[in-house]
Amino acid sequence: MTFNHRFVERAPDGPPVTLLLLHGTGGNEDDLLPLGRQLLPGAALLSPRGKVLEHGQPRFFRRLAEGVFDIDDLIARSHELARFVETALKTYHAEKTKLIAVGYSNGANIAASMLLLEPNVLSGAVLFRAMVPLVPPALPDLQAVSVFLSAGRMDPIVPAENTQRLAELLSKGGAHVDLRWMDAGHGLTTADIDQARDWLMSVVSS
Ligand code: MLT
Repeated sequence: MTFNHRFVERAPDGPPVTLLLLHGTGGNEDDLLPLGRQLLPGAALLSPRGKVLEHGQPRFFRRLAEGVFDIDDLIARSHELARFVETALKTYHAEKTKLIAVGYSNGANIAASMLLLEPNVLSGAVLFRAMVPLVPPALPDLQAVSVFLSAGRMDPIVPAENTQRLAELLSKGGAHVDLRWMDAGHGLTTADIDQARDWLMSVVSS
């Protein structure tokens, strides 16, 4: 149930938000801490390391090939991550903060899966280069959830129609989805970061 992770306390004057940082394939719990600090200065940060190893590279769930996911594993690990996050928030006395995921690539995919399978855990999500992780049997009620979905027009891993389908799936559940197209590939650009920062500021102050 537990994950190797980092937790950074909220600054005394920081926003009442915890960012759940979810790295991409081959990353770890340290990777996104600087990004979290940049996106929402002073927020608490909870950053777990994915437990699945693919040729020694940490991920949040198993895949059978690139873009082909092991759905049973994804479902089990989405629930497991949700329980870890709930426990961690209590342990660190952060359960009253708004929990917003910030995921990149594989981390964005498990964040999207958590939105679809565990709709009460996250208040929002910043999804960089996400795909449709799975289609749940019934759509969850996501009316209270805001999602910033940032896609690369030239992304060789995530086809544009897949991003579009994810936006539609989340919107159908009632989520407020802000889909942005970057002149970029799979990697993050300063435009992703600048726009995500502005979006986070507006969500936090609303
Ligand atoms: C995934 O496996 O989640 C996606 O293909 C993104 C990646 O990690 O390359």
